[in-house]
Amino acid sequence: MDRLWTQMVRPAALDDAEGIARVHVATWRSAYRGLLPDDFLASLSESNYAERWRRVIGEGSSRVYVVDEADDIAGFASGGRERAGEIGFAGELYALYVLEGAQRHGHGRELVRAVAGALRELELPDMIVWVLRDNPTARAFYERLGGRYVRSQPITIGNATLEEVSYGWRDLGEIRY
Ligand SMILES: CC(C)(COP(=O)(O)OP(=O)(O)OC[C@H]1O[C@@H](n2cnc3c(N)ncnc32)[C@H](O)[C@@H]1OP(=O)(O)O)[C@@H](O)C(=O)NCCC(=O)NCCS
Repeated sequence: MDRLWTQMVRPAALDDAEGIARVHVATWRSAYRGLLPDDFLASLSESNYAERWRRVIGEGSSRVYVVDEADDIAGFASGGRERAGEIGFAGELYALYVLEGAQRHGHGRELVRAVAGALRELELPDMIVWVLRDNPTARAFYERLGGRYVRSQPITIGNATLEEVSYGWRDLGEIRY
């Protein structure tokens, strides 16, 4: 199908921190409505996240990518070395968020491609991602990309205890774009 939108995925610069924070908070609020407590979602602060993302981009230990649509950041992703000591995985997709109004435009797929490229550069041969169990959209997306279910565990976010599940690709070449 011909795409009617143009997309550009690029490495994030420090100046993108505010735009990333805007997408982060808006997407948490739309995607996690009903999953996380309303007061927790309402309390998310763009300025706190902007500061956090500025630090992450500046430190350089995670690779961060953004996608622009109509000259504005419509989504972002980050990844790097696996953080929790999961056996069999050295690389991790840490975060992937696309604004509700820009979903199903192929941005998620291109952001994963960018993170996988970064993992290759870091000589990390595989990738794991954690996703809320009750997030069917993201689970369908990772399953579409060929992710294999790894395991589940509880996660505490704010005051809520939820279940998260992981998907893995034992070889980055197994990601089906
Ligand atoms: C998950 C997410 C990143 C996917 O991004 P996206 O840009 O919409 O995904 P793409 O357009 O690249 O979709 C690629 C394929 O994944 C599958 N897919 C994506 N969204 C889907 C959905 N809602 N239902 C079923 N399949 C879906 C489709 O096969 C799609 O290909 P198609 O559109 O040609 O059919 C996006 O929905 C999102 O940000 N969700 C909210 C936040 C979130 O849950 N992030 C993940 C946290 S771990």
